[in-house]
Amino acid sequence: MATTIGIICGSLREQSYNRIIAQSLIQMNKSVQFRWIEIKELPFFNEDLEVNGDPDAVLLFKSAVEEVDGIIIVSPEYNSGIPGVLKNALDWSSRPPKTSPMNKKPIGLIGATPGGFGTAFAQMQLRQVLETMQAQVFPFQKLFISQVHQKINLQEQVLSDEKTKKYLQSYVEEFLDWIQ
Ligand SMILES: Cc1cc2nc3c(=O)[nH]c(=O)nc-3n(C[C@H](O)[C@H](O)[C@H](O)COP(=O)(O)O)c2cc1C
Repeated sequence: MATTIGIICGSLREQSYNRIIAQSLIQMNKSVQFRWIEIKELPFFNEDLEVNGDPDAVLLFKSAVEEVDGIIIVSPEYNSGIPGVLKNALDWSSRPPKTSPMNKKPIGLIGATPGGFGTAFAQMQLRQVLETMQAQVFPFQKLFISQVHQKINLQEQVLSDEKTKKYLQSYVEEFLDWIQ
């Protein structure tokens, strides 16, 4: 069976730079099988909701996480941290502890921001959170995309910066090597 990489975008914004980066990553790697894993339909995490079984949106989300061989998270940073919608999704995916779909799941982290630090703070937090839920975070490569607004063609909704394209390409290749 071909390796399938799930893609989670940490921004719900329609014109999200991170979404465009994720879409470009998929376009640029046509030989790789990707699967979008959407998080916008997930309710706020609440243990009371688990008592009678996970809501449908959560079941769908968790089975998508379960089914893919690895996940690349492409996310912005909010207030030097993880966007709430993404943290919410990760909390759902961490249940039940020890046998959750995130257990041992290989995870890659990419982030883009118009600012100068390329989501470095959010990625540090993501690493900590993911390791707590016993996911395996890609240890060698880091991909921080700063000044992203200068690297995107908004009209065509594609990444236009050649250097960043190369970084993305080699990130995906090395991530695949690692999980295989
Ligand atoms: C609530 C909020 C907090 C933000 N905090 C940060 C931050 O700490 N660091 C940063 O680089 N950008 C920050 N930004 C700017 C985002 O990087 C920018 O809005 C980016 O375009 C969001 O990603 P997206 O285009 O994928 O939606 C913040 C934006 C919002 C709305």
